[in-house]
Amino acid sequence: MADDRPIALFDSGFGGLTVARAVIDLLPDENVVYVGDTGRYPYGPRPQEEVAGFARQITRHLVGEEDAKLVVVACNTAAAAALDELRTTAGVPVVGVIEPGARSLVEATRSRRVGVIGTIGTIGSGAYQRAVAATGATVELTCAACPGFVEFVERDELRSEQVHVLAERLLAPLADADVDTLLLGCTHYPFLARTISDVMGRDVVLVSSADETAFEVLRLLDGPDGPERRAPDGPPTHRFLSSGDVEWFRRLGSRLLGPEVTAVEAVRWD
Ligand code: DGL
Repeated sequence: MADDRPIALFDSGFGGLTVARAVIDLLPDENVVYVGDTGRYPYGPRPQEEVAGFARQITRHLVGEEDAKLVVVACNTAAAAALDELRTTAGVPVVGVIEPGARSLVEATRSRRVGVIGTIGTIGSGAYQRAVAATGATVELTCAACPGFVEFVERDELRSEQVHVLAERLLAPLADADVDTLLLGCTHYPFLARTISDVMGRDVVLVSSADETAFEVLRLLDGPDGPERRAPDGPPTHRFLSSGDVEWFRRLGSRLLGPEVTAVEAVRWD
């Protein structure tokens, strides 16, 4: 039986739009609802317990108020803090971005020297170190936190001299480790891919978890344990909710994700 309930995604802000783009492209008939918690971004420097509380609250909203059939935690920091808990409490399947990213990383490397960059919260949690180890691949892994990158994206400053200088400093350990593949372990970072690639060199492969996460959603919908697909009668709805400045979200969101971001609704947490 067809299931018209939406696929829900959330992030602290604009970063999860990289995952939303991949989900919309791979599953164009599905209804989608996206929450950008821009009123409380950035998550990266906050204590894990606080981020876990936000993730719990947003997931409750998405399942309870928006009737989501599946929730994608399109934020590495929130997934590192709360994915296991959400999987047992949400009442619907919950997909994270960390395992799909780790899988893509070990599949892409040739030299077996790989890197992961993310927020302080994600890197400090050890979630990627565990996820890469769980793949069973023998790789030499270098991790680095990149505080400040998210703020540049949220300000729509993707190619400035300042972000380039910051990237040179933060990415130095990865360049020193001579990695051939670098996982962008924060969903905001694909928007800085040009700058990151300028600093790392064109021969370093940049991997994002967006596509692999979208494939995981597709596998769930087509598998025996996930919800069904929507019946493709009529166009799907794509809704965007923000806890911050909705006009800013509409303007920057439509530029970053594309024409699907037409209107943005305000969401409040109580
Ligand atoms: N986009 C998020 C991530 O993947 C969080 C960024 C932040 O709010 O610090 O970690």
